[in-house]
Amino acid sequence: MANYTRCRGTLDIYDKQASLIQKVERACQKIAHQFHYSYIQTPMFESSELFTRSSGETSDIVTKEMYTFLDKGNRSITLRPEGTAGVIRAIIENKLYATNDLPLKYYYSGSFFRYERPQAGRYREFMQFGVEVVGTQSYLDDVETILFIVAILKELNLNEYTIKMNSFGNEICKNRYRDTLKNYFWQFKEQLCEDCQTRLQVNPLRVLDCKVDHDFFKTKEIPTAVSCLDAQAQEEFALVQKILTQQKVPYIVDHQLVRGLDYYTGLIFEIDIQAVDGKVYTIGGGGHYSNLVKELGGPDLSCVGFGLGINRLALILQEQYQDKSMDTTPSIYIMPLCEDAIFIAMDMAKQLREHDYVVTIENGKKSVSSMFKYASKKQFSYAIVIGENEINAKKVNLKNMQTQQQEMVAVDEVLNVLRG
Ligand code: HAM
Repeated sequence: MANYTRCRGTLDIYDKQASLIQKVERACQKIAHQFHYSYIQTPMFESSELFTRSSGETSDIVTKEMYTFLDKGNRSITLRPEGTAGVIRAIIENKLYATNDLPLKYYYSGSFFRYERPQAGRYREFMQFGVEVVGTQSYLDDVETILFIVAILKELNLNEYTIKMNSFGNEICKNRYRDTLKNYFWQFKEQLCEDCQTRLQVNPLRVLDCKVDHDFFKTKEIPTAVSCLDAQAQEEFALVQKILTQQKVPYIVDHQLVRGLDYYTGLIFEIDIQAVDGKVYTIGGGGHYSNLVKELGGPDLSCVGFGLGINRLALILQEQYQDKSMDTTPSIYIMPLCEDAIFIAMDMAKQLREHDYVVTIENGKKSVSSMFKYASKKQFSYAIVIGENEINAKKVNLKNMQTQQQEMVAVDEVLNVLRG
């Protein structure tokens, strides 16, 4: 018989990891609600051209990482490598900018696909939470997206992180920076790696992101994006920093920060978190982009957004919650020891669940000791034993699994006793 295994770079998510993924998703949704963003869902696959147009034809995503195939109608289809292009396409196609007040504020969450070399925290199918603000008229929306991320990290109790920021200013400043970098690197052309020699021709900004030439760059005084900003862009970048400082958000200006997608034209940022093993994970990134809506056939609307790697956040949380139960809702394990006890157990479970308790009825184990072993292994808050003695006394035996204290409680008093 054939042996089936999952495809390289994909994940089966279950048990603790599944709870962590859900915890991250819940935190993101809660903060999205608090920031008054609406949910948007777009298809997992789109026409390939949408992504080649939006991500940039020379970006790594387009040249190396897209899952592209011909469908039965001979159309070139791509599994979405990121969320921005699909959301912007949906906004244009459904003319959402005409029927809603601007800026539009949407969030999304789901699977994305990139043909990357798999390693810890890097998968070929991964989950992202993202937001897009469309039709923004102020740098304050850029600040808001960063505060949004900070709120999510706080909700997840992740307090040690680095926000790296840089600014391209606007399209004109970015072009100026591109030319400046090209001229600068041209003098070292022969010393750059083969990939960078090509990047220098087609996309000089990407040279800064090279892992091979990274050490060589450290010895050089590479021109910065900030040095190419005009007066207004400089002032706005300073104001962004002023507000973040006032809001006690830790950030650094990273002059070598560029992003893997080409559409950014203004503020860009990435968030790094160091895991316990010392490895640094980029858990999210985003920035301001002002041409994409127009380039995809819509009106002239400026945007800002970000994406967070849900799997990477769950990976980091795994260390925090290694031995701890993540669910703080009191959980109850009911042990019916005879047939008559089953009816009482079912009524009790129904009532407790209706009051938001987490309840499991033991349906299979035979011995009381194996049931108690299971109750402590699964970290239940309480165990309720219902045997013949209890039935005769119209009571149940309620055990607090933390303190190990037991008491006989009348059946219709259980809820009151649990509530204290
Ligand atoms: P991105 O930086 O390409 O941005 O991805 C955002 C985050 O997704 C990354 O920081 C990382 O945490 C996670 N991620 C990316 N690739 C993988 C992978 N192969 N495995 C696991 N996690 C991964 C974007 O995608 C932009 N669309 C963000 C954005 C929205 N910019 C403006 N609006």
